[in-house]
Amino acid sequence: MSGRKWNFNPGPSVMPVPALEKAKEALLDYDGTGIGIMETSHRSKEFGELYGKLQERMAKLLALPADRKILFFGGGANLQFSMIPMNLLPEGGHADYVNTGTWANKAIAAAQLVGKVDVVASSKNDEGKFPRVPTPAEIQVTAGAQYLHLCSNNTIAGTQFHAWPDTPEVPLIVDMSSDIACRELDWSKFDLVYAGAQKNLGPAGVTVVIISQKLLDRCGDDLPMMLNYKTMAAKDSLGNTPPSFPIYMVGLVLEWIEQQGGIAAVEKVNRAKANLLYGLFDDNPDYFRAPVEKASRSLMNVVWRLPSEDLEKQLIAEATADGFVGLKGHRSVGGLRASIYNAMPSQGVEQLVDYLKKFAAK
Ligand SMILES: Cc1ncc(COP(=O)(O)O)c(C=O)c1O
Repeated sequence: MSGRKWNFNPGPSVMPVPALEKAKEALLDYDGTGIGIMETSHRSKEFGELYGKLQERMAKLLALPADRKILFFGGGANLQFSMIPMNLLPEGGHADYVNTGTWANKAIAAAQLVGKVDVVASSKNDEGKFPRVPTPAEIQVTAGAQYLHLCSNNTIAGTQFHAWPDTPEVPLIVDMSSDIACRELDWSKFDLVYAGAQKNLGPAGVTVVIISQKLLDRCGDDLPMMLNYKTMAAKDSLGNTPPSFPIYMVGLVLEWIEQQGGIAAVEKVNRAKANLLYGLFDDNPDYFRAPVEKASRSLMNVVWRLPSEDLEKQLIAEATADGFVGLKGHRSVGGLRASIYNAMPSQGVEQLVDYLKKFAAK
């Protein structure tokens, strides 16, 4: 498509073009109704159908256990940082958290406002950086913890969990904002997963929460309706007017994943894309420094450094001018980062790798 740049932004981020094309038409006329999708009532038959289909499609694509409820909230992943302890950390209880960087830390800070938090593992090194995630053996839950919380993909540090702690006695809660639907997973391990849509699922404005019946049954009754998983589940997330357009877009993105051959097919492409970049760094360690330990490398957010900050600045400026946008690392850590979510075509990564090779040679 002419004029579109390679968008490596961490979120909001690149979306599948076929989904955007379909949405373009639906803005004016959704499915021949003569009414645009944004103008369609959330109580209409049309919205009800697309909503039901989206939940069905998500459950099937992700291969969710039958008892999982799919909910939609506004407020981003940040709201979930607070809702989780509000619903699941009763007075006198305590919850376990793993610290793997910025977002995990925010979740910890939000939970500490509600109750007692034990940080049971951290991958912070002596320089204050997070170049890896803890191994399952390093994560020992405390007796009687209400739940264990971790962030599966650390968007800023460029790390990702590839092995999960085995904690049958303590429910596992995971922030999958930046890697949901990027790979096949055994979803029976997770009791609650949440993800802001704006990386792998659609536009900003909606957060998906996938929660087990077991956890829903544990939620208290003393919270306002909009903050209460149990009441929102009973209302199928339609306690108020939902973010109907972002929800519609999530449906289109899932449809696109299905057309690619499902999660397994998307995972294969994701692994190949990530290997291209990591391969370049491993083959040229004197020029490209990959700070993340190999076992913790993210498939979604690839971070690296150049020999100097001046060269990094030069690369970002030149690449931006040449149509590769969003390569600047997060301001808290510096360096470079390519966010290569599901919707980033292989071609984009291949062209980036060629560009980096030429830059290094120059
Ligand atoms: C892993 C992770 N968790 C949480 C957030 C915060 O998401 P939101 O802006 O939707 O609150 C982000 C945002 O980049 C993220 O990458």
